[in-house]
Amino acid sequence: LENGLLRKPPMGWLAWERFRCNTDCDEDPKNCISERLFLEMADHLAQDGWRDLGYTYLNIDDCWIGGRDAKGHLIPDPKRFPNGIAFLADYAHSLGLKLGIYEDMGNFTCMGYPGTTLDKVIQDAQTFAEWKVDMLKLDGCFSTPEERAKGYPMMAAALNATGRPIAFSCSWPAYEGGLPPKVNYTLLTEICNVWRNYDDIQDSWSSVLSILDWFVDNQDILQPVAGPGHWNDPDMLLIGNFGLSFEQARAQMALWTVLAAPLFMSTDLRTISAQNMDILQNPLMIKINQDPLGIQGRRILKEKFHIEVFMRPLASEASALVFFSRRTDIPYHYHSSLAQLNFNSSDTYEAQNVYTGDVISGLHSTTNFTVTINPSGVVMWYLYPIRKLGTPQH
Ligand code: GLA
Repeated sequence: LENGLLRKPPMGWLAWERFRCNTDCDEDPKNCISERLFLEMADHLAQDGWRDLGYTYLNIDDCWIGGRDAKGHLIPDPKRFPNGIAFLADYAHSLGLKLGIYEDMGNFTCMGYPGTTLDKVIQDAQTFAEWKVDMLKLDGCFSTPEERAKGYPMMAAALNATGRPIAFSCSWPAYEGGLPPKVNYTLLTEICNVWRNYDDIQDSWSSVLSILDWFVDNQDILQPVAGPGHWNDPDMLLIGNFGLSFEQARAQMALWTVLAAPLFMSTDLRTISAQNMDILQNPLMIKINQDPLGIQGRRILKEKFHIEVFMRPLASEASALVFFSRRTDIPYHYHSSLAQLNFNSSDTYEAQNVYTGDVISGLHSTTNFTVTINPSGVVMWYLYPIRKLGTPQH
C-alpha cells in the first residue's frame, strides 16, 4: 500500500502470542490484557534499547474491546483500559513509540468480541484515527469470503479517508488459504502494508518449521510480492518464550530476517534474558532485516543431508546468507564455495558472521569454505564485495 508507511518491515511488540486472551486481572494483574501491560511494555521498549534499534510499534491484539456505546462507537473494556485507547496512544507517542490496535472484519473477533461488520467500517476507522492509533491489524474471523472481499478494500479506503497515516495489516489472505487464485496478491499490495498469509505461530519449534516450510514451498508466489510498503508476514517472533532452544531462537531470527518479515516480538520484556535480548538486538541482523531494497530472500539450496541455504540480496551488492541445519545429531561441517551458491563474479568478497562478528576475507567464488552448523541452528553471513579503492571503475 503506497501510503508512505512501512517502507521497511515493521518492528515492535505485539501482545498476542505471549499474552493471548488473558482477561483475568484479579488473578493475574501483571499479565492480563490491560492498560498496565501496555504501559509496562512501552516503558521497556523505550528504556531497554528496543526503540532506538527500530522496535517502535506497541501493538494491542484481541480482547481489548468492551463493546459499543449508544452511537455504535467502539469502547475498550472499562475495567482493563480505564483511561481509554487515546491515553495509551498518547503515552506511546510521548516515548517515541507507535500504537497498533486489533479488530476483525466480521461479526466477532476470533475470541468473540464485537467485530467490524461492513456497516461499521467507516465509523471504526474514524474511531481509530481519533484515538491517534498508528497501525491496525484487521483479522478475518466470523465473516464470509464475500464480506472479506468487500470489507478489506473498504477499510483501506476508510483509513485513508481519515487523513491519519495508519499502517494496515490484513489477515485476509490467511483466511483464503494464502494462495492464488483465491488470494489476489496484486490487490493486497495495493490495499495493505503487510498481511498474514498462513497459520498462527505457536510457542514451539514445530510451529516455526511448519510456517517456514509453507513459505518456502510457495516462495515463487510469495517472494516477488514483497517490497517496500507491502510485506508478507509469517507471524510473530517466539524468542524469549518457552518453546525454542537457543539455537532455534537464533534460527527463527535469521530466517525471518532473510524473509524480510516483520519483527514483532511477543515476549515479556520485563523478564527477558540477556541472551535472548542479544538475539533480538543484534545490530547487523536488524540492518539486514531493514535493508532499503526490501527484497525478500529465498531458499536457494536444499541438500539431501538436511542442510539448507537461504539468500537475501541487499543494497550495495551485499547479500545475507543463512546456512540452516534441520539435523538432530551433532554440529555439521558444511563445505561449500560461493560458486556453489551461484555467486559467479570475479569479485573478492568478505563475510561477516552475523552472530559471532567473525570476518572471513579474501573469498573468491571458487574458494572452498566450511561452516559448522549446530542442530536446528544457523550460521548467518553478511557478504559483500571488496573493491580496491582508487581503482578506476570501467
Ligand atoms: C487470530 C490471529 C492471531 C490473533 C488471534 C486473536 O487467530 O491470526 O494472530 O490475532 O486471532 O484472537
